[in-house]
Amino acid sequence: MIPLTEDKSLYTALNEYSKSGAYPFHMPGHKRALYPGLPYNIDITEINGFDDLHHAEGILKNTQKKMQRLFDSEYSYMLINGSTGGILAAITAVANYGDEIIIARNCHKSVYNACELNALDIHFIYPEQDIYTGIAKSITPDSVKQAAGQYPNSKAIVITSPTYEGVISDIKSISEIAHSFGMVLITDNAHGAHQHFCAFCREGEPIENGSDIVISSLHKTLPSLTQTAAAHFNSTLASRERFEKKLSVFQTSSPSYVLMSSIDCCMDILSNSKELFLRYEDDLLRFSTGAKSLQNLHILCMGNDTPQVHGFFAFDLGKIVICTENTDINGTALSQILRTRYNIETEMSYTNYVIAMTSICDSEKAFGLLLNALTEIDKTLKPKKSEKRFFEIPRPHRSSYKPADLNALPNEPIYENGILVSRQYIYAYPPGIPIIIPGELLDDNIYSYIEHLKSEKLKVES
Ligand SMILES: Cc1ncc(COP(=O)(O)O)c(C=O)c1O
Repeated sequence: MIPLTEDKSLYTALNEYSKSGAYPFHMPGHKRALYPGLPYNIDITEINGFDDLHHAEGILKNTQKKMQRLFDSEYSYMLINGSTGGILAAITAVANYGDEIIIARNCHKSVYNACELNALDIHFIYPEQDIYTGIAKSITPDSVKQAAGQYPNSKAIVITSPTYEGVISDIKSISEIAHSFGMVLITDNAHGAHQHFCAFCREGEPIENGSDIVISSLHKTLPSLTQTAAAHFNSTLASRERFEKKLSVFQTSSPSYVLMSSIDCCMDILSNSKELFLRYEDDLLRFSTGAKSLQNLHILCMGNDTPQVHGFFAFDLGKIVICTENTDINGTALSQILRTRYNIETEMSYTNYVIAMTSICDSEKAFGLLLNALTEIDKTLKPKKSEKRFFEIPRPHRSSYKPADLNALPNEPIYENGILVSRQYIYAYPPGIPIIIPGELLDDNIYSYIEHLKSEKLKVES
């Protein structure tokens, strides 16, 4: 048996076990090394000495304690089904079947799926669109107050901060409002796992600003394998026992030790990361200064641009959002040029911007490569002053059906006031925020918005 010690990392223990010569009459079926490059050697199951994620008491609890210490949370949990699993668990833990809930319209599809599974009655907060880029602005405390006052029976409020584009909301004020109405605040912090460690985006960090449950994808902005995420619980309003039970419902009963050891390694990196984050900030500030010389392209909240210009509460500079609206190309074309001429693959492209995602693992050289490429491309572009800079996202009208109601009905078209009721979610992907959800009316506005997205070569999925 592998002895458990407080200081032995999961990664070390797994490697020791792999080299111990013990014969694995246990899962998984690959029984060690097969194809080079895949981590078969540390891929085990819950054998003696390796704990159980769903009732962590040993080496996995040690990792979760490390997370608690690093993130200054009351309780932290490893998630191996991404933020998706954590969001499903959080919403299911705080609302009963059929309850009311307030969510920001720009929530990720996992929030909508959780609402549908629990037949929740959704009340939306619509973020304003930035007049320059069309990007969703911060959720304002006033809009939360108004929604909470209008729907006081709602059990919880769910917002995304930072958003995919890096826009941060004022979590402190929002959590105070939520709590004054007796509502739980769940923050989808999928894009903000690094926030706790970054001076440049610490404002609005949800764990220290009163959010009851915070769900963060470690894999998106920190050095950790895909699917790894964290849930942080700091609440007197929500039940921790119920949340833990729901985590077991929405997470596999065979959590991957490869993924969990990558979380453990990520915590070890974070425990000694001050220099890394300072260097990262320097690189981003240098990039921001370089962006001042761009004539046609511009970088959101960098160069001469600031969060205040757009009315954002705060912004995560780690998201390099390259805006094309004043040029003769769109975001998709820019991402193609970066790919084909510069061998740079970006995170996503939209009608009028491209997102390049960064982290502490990017080198000064990498930032230089991107800046040089953009500076060269910028010189080849022509300025364009369009009358309408972005397309307004339509606000769909609701029918009398909730998403969950439609599941029970025969699969035939349903009309209300002569307009087709949507039976499905329709997304522009990424980022996976629905344009329309089941039960909303597919009127002309929605069709023209979808046509517009398709004409800009965006993937529209249902
Ligand atoms: C805002 C937001 N929330 C949640 C998720 C889900 O995160 P994960 O991929 O870790 O399940 C995503 C993924 O893209 C996201 O963008």
